[in-house]
Amino acid sequence: MLFDGTQIGTLELKNRIVRSATAEMMADDIGVPLPQLIDTYRELARGGVGLIITGHMFVHPSGKAHPSMTGICSDDHILGLKRLADAVHAEGGAIAAQINHGGRQVRGSLVDDPIAPSAHEAPPPRASAREMTMDEIEILIDAYAQASRRAKEAGFDAVQIHAAHGYLVSQFLSPIANGRFDGWGGTFEKRTRFFRRIIAAVREQVGCDFPVFAKLGIRDESEDGLSLDDGVAIVSELRDWGLDAVEISGGLAETGTFNIVGDIGPGENEATFRPWAQAASKATELPIILVGGMRSLDVMEDVLQSGDAQLISMCRPLICEPDLPRRLQQGIQTAASCVSKNRCWPGKGEIGISCKCSGVIRKATSS
Ligand SMILES: Cc1cc2nc3c(=O)[nH]c(=O)nc-3n(C[C@H](O)[C@H](O)[C@H](O)COP(=O)(O)O)c2cc1C
Repeated sequence: MLFDGTQIGTLELKNRIVRSATAEMMADDIGVPLPQLIDTYRELARGGVGLIITGHMFVHPSGKAHPSMTGICSDDHILGLKRLADAVHAEGGAIAAQINHGGRQVRGSLVDDPIAPSAHEAPPPRASAREMTMDEIEILIDAYAQASRRAKEAGFDAVQIHAAHGYLVSQFLSPIANGRFDGWGGTFEKRTRFFRRIIAAVREQVGCDFPVFAKLGIRDESEDGLSLDDGVAIVSELRDWGLDAVEISGGLAETGTFNIVGDIGPGENEATFRPWAQAASKATELPIILVGGMRSLDVMEDVLQSGDAQLISMCRPLICEPDLPRRLQQGIQTAASCVSKNRCWPGKGEIGISCKCSGVIRKATSS
């Protein structure tokens, strides 16, 4: 099934392999993509992946999570983003823009006055944040909507709202990060309001035919955090709220119970979040995209055949081998070479992610 076509809303995809959002750290100081980002996307599209989701892009200057992050907060960003979309389309690929705001998970050195649902103290390089005002909430809802308009104008095929990993939407959903007692926090209804309002505002900008989906942190993996029951309840509403699909992830970056699990190999700790996808798939008819530890063809096929998910999403394997989908399809490999040692991030003085694990060595000897 992996190489059968499928759809996300009106978007037709040539196969079911998704490149999960991956912060490439290849933009200049104001967030304009550098040429190496365009090359990265061209290579991924050539490698046969069905859908590329960009690294998270900041919708407002107050939401810049780390240096060299791509921006989508100004119309001045549209031209650079169009170059990305054009490069992917020229290779017959499809591309979705992941839109995000870091909230309290920004670097203090990048954002003067960090904001979050509730005030939060954190040691550097993380930022201490103050509670957002009602006006700021409205401004940011509009920022997500304007970012989605820019993505559409730049020629992207879809928008993914980042609602996972402890960033702003995830902060509103999570009882740990959202301690508000007004209309934006407390009950399930109030904690989900920010997310619902963003989806509605995005829909208003892009129309009902443009594919819009989310990456959802379905649970926080922390006792006082978002529970799986709450996460599944959110999934069950997403279609009515206006989404076309949902990618299932979880965990808050800042608590260390993170979504980027180490030491995964073919047959070892694969499909980390499969039980959560199973729970989600029972709650919705939306296509489920499963990310996290997807490594071998057998496991991917089993997930699809069982109906636990309709699409398979990968991050680190495609940093290591951007042409992995083609290699799997042609039978050159039956599994990713990625060994999940988490050495993808730039070292001192470097720009951009790259694979620094033994996976690259294995790839050089495997073809
Ligand atoms: C270098 C790197 C950058 C990432 N950037 C993002 C991002 O921008 N947005 C996002 O939703 N997840 C991001 N993630 C998480 C991945 O999309 C994915 O959920 C996680 O790595 C698990 O999938 P994997 O086992 O296939 O790597 C990133 C992960 C890595 C390793």
